[in-house]
Amino acid sequence: MTGNRTFTMIKPDAVENGHIGAILEKITAAGFKIIAMKYTQLSRRDAEEFYAIHKERPFFGELVTFMTRGPIVSAILEKDNAVEDFRALIGATNPAEAAEGTIRKLFAKDIGENAVHGSDSDENAAIEGAFHFSGREIYS
Ligand code: PPS
Repeated sequence: MTGNRTFTMIKPDAVENGHIGAILEKITAAGFKIIAMKYTQLSRRDAEEFYAIHKERPFFGELVTFMTRGPIVSAILEKDNAVEDFRALIGATNPAEAAEGTIRKLFAKDIGENAVHGSDSDENAAIEGAFHFSGREIYS
């Protein structure tokens, strides 16, 4: 059992394709409570900082360009075992490998445009949530 919070973004591809409502429905139907949420757009600086851990990877520039090309929805979610359960709900990073019924299987095109982000650890969930939200924007 991990901690009870995770951080997510509905990425620009899913926003452009009109999937915000359907994705939020899947998230809440799976038992996650939204305790912070905003509709926003990342600057290049924001995206470079958020994804700094990947800066040596070959796709870094592409990832930053994609994540800044339009609005996103960012949110902090609460549920027991949040990080692990949310990663199961969204499916594999590459939608071609994602299980049936997962958010990426349903709404994502490819590994570069994969509809949603989910934190990969409790530690990163806390860091990523704090990157996007101040304490007074979180209602638990
Ligand atoms: S994961 O989920 O963190 O274990 O996946 P990882 O493979 O480490 O990928 C980290 C983020 O980089 C994105 N990604 C890519 N973007 C563009 N092109 C390619 N080829 C590519 N491969 C991975 C992936 O969607 C992850 O973004 P986030 O926002 O963390 O889901």
